[in-house]
Amino acid sequence: MFPEQRPRRLRRTPALRRLVAETSLEPRQLVLPMFVKEGAAEPIPITSMPGVFQHTRDSFRKAVVEAVEAGIGGVMLFGIPVEYDADGTGGLDPDGVLNAALRDVRAEVGDGTVIMSDLCIDEFTDHGHCGVLDEHGQVDNDRTLRIYGEMAVAQIEAGAHVVGSSGMMDGQVAAIRAALDRAGHPEAAVLAYAVKYASAFYGPFREAVDSQLIGDRKTYQQDPANAREALREARLDLDEGADMVMVKPAMAYLDIIRAVKDIADVPVAAYQISGEYAMIETAAANGWIDRDRAVLETLTGIRRAGADIVLTYWAVEAAGWLNQR
Ligand code: PBG
Repeated sequence: MFPEQRPRRLRRTPALRRLVAETSLEPRQLVLPMFVKEGAAEPIPITSMPGVFQHTRDSFRKAVVEAVEAGIGGVMLFGIPVEYDADGTGGLDPDGVLNAALRDVRAEVGDGTVIMSDLCIDEFTDHGHCGVLDEHGQVDNDRTLRIYGEMAVAQIEAGAHVVGSSGMMDGQVAAIRAALDRAGHPEAAVLAYAVKYASAFYGPFREAVDSQLIGDRKTYQQDPANAREALREARLDLDEGADMVMVKPAMAYLDIIRAVKDIADVPVAAYQISGEYAMIETAAANGWIDRDRAVLETLTGIRRAGADIVLTYWAVEAAGWLNQR
């Protein structure tokens, strides 16, 4: 008796495997998240994210140029201010760290890549939450929406092509869309972090942005136990006018990426976050896994799950490998 079905036939040579590969991974699908630190004299390495830096204004500009040259799809910019306050007003200031960096970057690369900015106040608040607090210390959803609207306008006017609404306030996409339209920016796009889980994997990001946060984000980010709620969040953001929707984190939520892809008629992004990066870097540094293969395997897995776009701290490096293929 011989087996009637032999799937191994199509795995026999590299050329056969290439021919039948179902999922593609291309530099243009990758977006690099980047950090710029106000007043930094030199790029500061982020210990928990080997190879990732808090940039100076100058090194930031150069790093963006390098990213453009690598042919990646875009950059997602985060700013780290020197001063914080309760309402995160540094995020609204046209001369605040992020807006100033957006102006630099736009002047440097123009429309040569897609410039995205993190639209959230947690980097700018002295309590580290994504929203302003009421007199009981609770995140005040609706007062936060007004701030997000103003922040969106400031970021677009500074040079962002796309704002990434990452704060998980109810109604944020509608509020941002309305503020942008009112300010005369109907062309500005919103990448909605539609589905964002309260995840332990944000750990290294806290160091990356010198986070002030005490406590957690469980009253606004989602419970990892819930999948249907993710679809509700995605539908709401689509109804509110999201141009793209994102799922975050990525690797522990591949089922969610697939489910969102099945209902969304806009591009779906997934964010491979700081802790996912740190995990692989640490294992590889110990010689426990083949770093480059592991990185490409995770990116391919996230694409296979349904992500059109992947935000990853390996974007430029991975693009280099892909360009050599
Ligand atoms: C919110 C924001 C966070 C990340 C991206 N945007 C932090 C959070 O929601 O707690 C995390 C990204 C990462 O961990 O790589 N400004």
